Formats: sequence, C-alpha cells, structure tokens
Amino acid sequence: MQLEVIVLAAGQGTRMKSRIPKVLHSVGGKPMLERVLGTVSSLLPARVHVVTSDDDEEIQSRFEQFDIDWVYQEEQLGTGHAVLQALPLLEANSQALVVYGDCPLVKPDTLKRCVAENHGGIALITAVVPDPFGLGRIIRDTTGQVEAIVEQADISPEQCGIDEINTGILSTSAELLGEYLPQLNDNNAQGEIYLTDLIVEAVSNGVSVKAVQVDDYRETLGVNDRMQLAKVERVFQQWQAEALMKQGVSIADPSRVDCRGSVTTGLDCVLDINVLLEGDIELGDNVRIGANCVLRNVQIASDTVINENSVIEDTTIGRACSVGPFARIRPGSALDDNVSIGNFVEVKNSRLAGGVKAGHLAYLGDAEIGADTNIGAGAITCNFDGKNKHRTIIGDNVFIGSNSSLIAPLTIESGAAVAAGSSISRNVNTDALVIERADQRNIKGGGTRFRRR
Ligand code: UD1
Ligand code: CA
Repeated sequence: MQLEVIVLAAGQGTRMKSRIPKVLHSVGGKPMLERVLGTVSSLLPARVHVVTSDDDEEIQSRFEQFDIDWVYQEEQLGTGHAVLQALPLLEANSQALVVYGDCPLVKPDTLKRCVAENHGGIALITAVVPDPFGLGRIIRDTTGQVEAIVEQADISPEQCGIDEINTGILSTSAELLGEYLPQLNDNNAQGEIYLTDLIVEAVSNGVSVKAVQVDDYRETLGVNDRMQLAKVERVFQQWQAEALMKQGVSIADPSRVDCRGSVTTGLDCVLDINVLLEGDIELGDNVRIGANCVLRNVQIASDTVINENSVIEDTTIGRACSVGPFARIRPGSALDDNVSIGNFVEVKNSRLAGGVKAGHLAYLGDAEIGADTNIGAGAITCNFDGKNKHRTIIGDNVFIGSNSSLIAPLTIESGAAVAAGSSISRNVNTDALVIERADQRNIKGGGTRFRRR
C-alpha cells in the first residue's frame, strides 16, 4: 500500500496575531512547514498533500524543492474539515498519515512508528506532558483502550487532570478515513469539525485504535502563539547545541548559541557565548569563535580564530587566520591561510592571499591582494565612483601606508610601497615607492601666531 501524507497547514493561527500564515513562522531559521515537510520526506511517501488557506503561488513556490499537492481549504472549519479537503485526492487503497504543520520538531522515527502501528485500524501518537492545558486529552477506558479525544474547550472538570495528550499525528487507511470522516459534525464548543472525533467514531464501529506514546514529549510541542514559538525555538536550539557537542565542539553556554542552518565541524572547535551561526557553516579542527560573533554561510579551515564581535557573511577563510575583534567580512570574500584582520576592518568581495595583514580600520572592497601584503591603518579602496564599482589589484609583499586612498580601478604591483596619506589614482609599478601628498612646511614661530589668532 502506498503512503500518502496529509499536512494540515491552513490558517493564520488567530493567536499568532500575524499577517503571515502560521506555518510560515520560522524555527531554527526555516519555516515550520519546511521542517515538517523535510521530516515527512524521510518516509519517502508516494504523495504529500498540504492543506493550505493560501491559494498563493508565491508561498507555494517557496517549497519547490518538495513535490507537493496543494489542497485549498477556503474556510478553516476545523482539522477534520481540513482532512476532508484532501480525501478525494487519496488513492483508494493507500495508507494515510496526517501531521500538523505547526508541530515542527517531530522526528522521522515517530512518524515511522505511527505508520507501522495502525494494523488496519488507526494509530495515533500521544505524549505525556507536564502542562496539558489547551491540548486534546486522550480518554482511555478501564482496560486502557483509547476511547476518545476531548478538546480543551469541551473538557469536563474530571478530565482536566489527564496529562496524556493528542499530538495530532495519526495514521490509518484512506478507506477508513473515507468511511468515518464524512460522518463527523461540528457539534462542539468551537463549532469546528474535529479530526479528533474520528476516534470516537472508529471505536464505536469496532475499529482498533492504538495510541503510541513518544519518549520525549518536546518533539510534539505545537505552536499556537508566539510564546509557544519561542519555546519550540529553544528546544530546537538546545538539541542543535547538544548535537554539536557530541561532534566534539566545546560550547561555553549551550543556551547562548543559535544555529539557523547546517553546521559541520572538525574536532575541538570552541564557541563562546552569543554566537549565531546561520546558513551553511563549515568549521575545520580547532576553530575558535569568540563571543558575540555572527557567521552566515562561512567556511573556516583549521586553527583559525574569529575574535569577539565579528560579523562574517558568504566567505571562506583559510587556516591559522585571525579575524577581529570587531571585524566585518562581507559576501564574496576569501581569506587564504595566515591572514590577519584586525579591529574595524571591513572586507567586501575581496580575495586576500596568504599572510595578508590589515590590522586596523581599513576598507578593502572589490580588491585582490597578494601574499604578505600589509595594509596600514585607515587605508581604503575607493571602489565606487558614484556610478560603478571598480577593482583594486595589489601584488605580493606590497606595503600600503596608513590612511592611503586607493582609487580604483587601480593596480599596484608586487613589492611596491605606498607612503602614508597618499591618494593613488594611477597604477604603481613593481618595487616602486610612491608618495602622493602635499609637501610638509614647518613654519618657524608659527605656533605662537596660531595661538594669538
Ligand atoms: C489540535 C488538536 C488537539 C491536539 C493539538 C496538538 C484537533 C481538533 N485538535 O489542536 O487535539 O492536542 O492539535 O498540537 O485536531 N488546520 C487546518 N485547517 C483547519 C484547522 C486547522 O489546516 O481548519 C491546521 C493548522 O494550520 C494547524 C493544525 O491544523 O497546523 C492544527 O490546528 P490548530 O488549530 O492549531 O489545533 P489545536 O487547537 O492546536
Ligand atoms: Ca496547534
């Protein structure tokens, strides 16, 4: 029997107080729906139906990497109503797995267990939680068999204490769904068609209902409001930090490192407090990231140190480099081995060969800088003429004096030296010394006259 997954993802989620659909709010830098779809795809389902309230191509195009049947639910009349919209699309003799788009932490194994356990009836994933308020409670008879799910709004005072809850994940056959779903009504406190009423309906018709409990309830946490969104984010981040530590990364405080992407590391990397890693991050062995650094799509080879308060984006950095504190490396940059970038240095779309040093207060934009060249404090590439960007090419072993303005397009050949304070607008040949600044005048007694002014 082929497996078809139905992902319920319709509605803004009134408690989110948002203009964007609830399932597009992000956890770990990815929309919740994308996380759920990623997990679902590990089951290799024949088809995935996403029930949505947004007949919006722009939203749908964001999920192009998944093969999805979009199912439009015009009005959000309840989770049962949502599944009903997908029902006509299911292959007659398929297995159906229903998951909720607002539960992004669920693990592949849990979904697999759910699919494996329905034995021709219904399997549902339940969890025992510390605070069941707001969730559907699992009602069992005296023998422990599941009888029903009661929603918070419909609960009796005796049922309030039940701490086993419905996670929303269930599997059954398309046939059973087709038989019992159309019989559900909206006769409840919220006036919605509850998917959860499928259980009572099935039980009263002698269909077997199996509840499978998860070991760690946190993977079933759902997001109905922004407090829950933050809670889910923290759980996700804690798991990521634990995964990194298991790979051999030391983390000063696992609650103060956030990963919003994928991180691969060698051994003995160290992340200090308040490090934010976004996009694809690759770290070699023994890479140290100082406090308050932000790295976005960055590859760093072994033994490099990123000092405090540095921001690095779309950049590759070689071995044994030192960057920061307070450095900004912008997209399109590449630093070879042993490069040293100091405080208040900005690098953009530039390639710095091995051993380049820019210790203080410099701007290197659209530049190519040869090996062992030294960039003095306050030196800048003037890469923008007000209309276009131009490149600055600097050879090996060049000395750029402090406060030089390198007016691009410009080539400074290897071994040249540029005197401090020069504005260079014409190319400089190999081994030349160039001084471009007004002559200094020392006026005798001028100090006294200056003060008397
Ligand atoms: C639901 C369950 C509850 C369970 C909880 C787990 C029902 C009736 N209740 O409650 O038993 O404990 O999840 O988190 O199923 N959706 C649609 N169309 C609709 C309504 C909802 O697609 O008409 C989608 C939402 O986008 C959401 C999911 O279904 O992703 C669940 O809906 P939500 O309103 O959040 O249900 P809960 O009140 O959390
Ligand atoms: Ca929910």
